Amino acid sequence: MAWKNRDVVSIDDFSKEDLEALFKKTDEYEHSYPSGILKGKIIGNIFLEYSTRTRVSFEVAAKRLGAEVINLVAEYSSIKKGESLYDTLKMMDIYSDLLVIRSPIEGTARFASDVCKHPVINAGDGYLNHPTQAMIDLYTIRKLKGRLDDLRIGVCGDLRYGRAAVSFMFGVAKYSNKIYAISPAQLSMREDVKNKLTEIGAYFVETNSLEEVLPELDVLYVTRIQKERFPDIAEYEKVKGSYKVDLKTLQNSKRDLIVMHPLPRVDELSYEIDNTPMQAYFKQAELGVYIRMALLSLILVGE
Ligand code: CP
Repeated sequence: MAWKNRDVVSIDDFSKEDLEALFKKTDEYEHSYPSGILKGKIIGNIFLEYSTRTRVSFEVAAKRLGAEVINLVAEYSSIKKGESLYDTLKMMDIYSDLLVIRSPIEGTARFASDVCKHPVINAGDGYLNHPTQAMIDLYTIRKLKGRLDDLRIGVCGDLRYGRAAVSFMFGVAKYSNKIYAISPAQLSMREDVKNKLTEIGAYFVETNSLEEVLPELDVLYVTRIQKERFPDIAEYEKVKGSYKVDLKTLQNSKRDLIVMHPLPRVDELSYEIDNTPMQAYFKQAELGVYIRMALLSLILVGE
């Protein structure tokens, strides 16, 4: 499907062919990009939840291509006076050529895409969708492993509340890979996520032992426990610190294992991995700017 004017709500909405077109554009932009292609365009960032990488990298991506960026900061907006999400979206739609939205509430981006006339990009909502992070993660694997098929991929951590982990699994399930879903029982995948993976033909197994599956893995994707999404903080206290990946944990890994993480990290991924060849998480953050440049260009200009 053509990219021009398209909404980006869920990784499920994109075929392998769509993703390949995005990755080709990203390859091109990594080498050289047209710095004025978005001149005159305004990108409206609406972040109703904390973010460092997604908000800043969208802003950098837009500015590198010549666009202007406006940021609605919830804390200082009329949302604080009781303005509805609908009216907030209508205003940002009037002022912008494309909206980038993050929200703690599942379905916010889909709602925004229904009510806004300009394209909407989901910068993460609820526990299910973070499509541009999944695109970055797939692109990083394609770049570091040279392929997106035939890999054994461990996804370790909070698979219950972690939208980056869930979107990543939906992304890699488009290709022929084996997924190991590794988590403590309390943080295991929801039934709807498992049903969806089954529906799309994913080959996945669940385990609570990283140690057992580690020697098989080509990719280990680690995620933070999403403290802010627990309905009951007492439940978070029970699982906090329940896993940590460090050099000792990884001693029986393949020599060419890559360790990914969408970031931010808290205590689940040791800093001692940072300066090893396994570290891929800073590369994800770096490539994120190019993926987002390619997205903005394909959606706003069509090329
Ligand atoms: N990976 C990611 O979404 O990071 P931020 O929450 O900092 O945007």
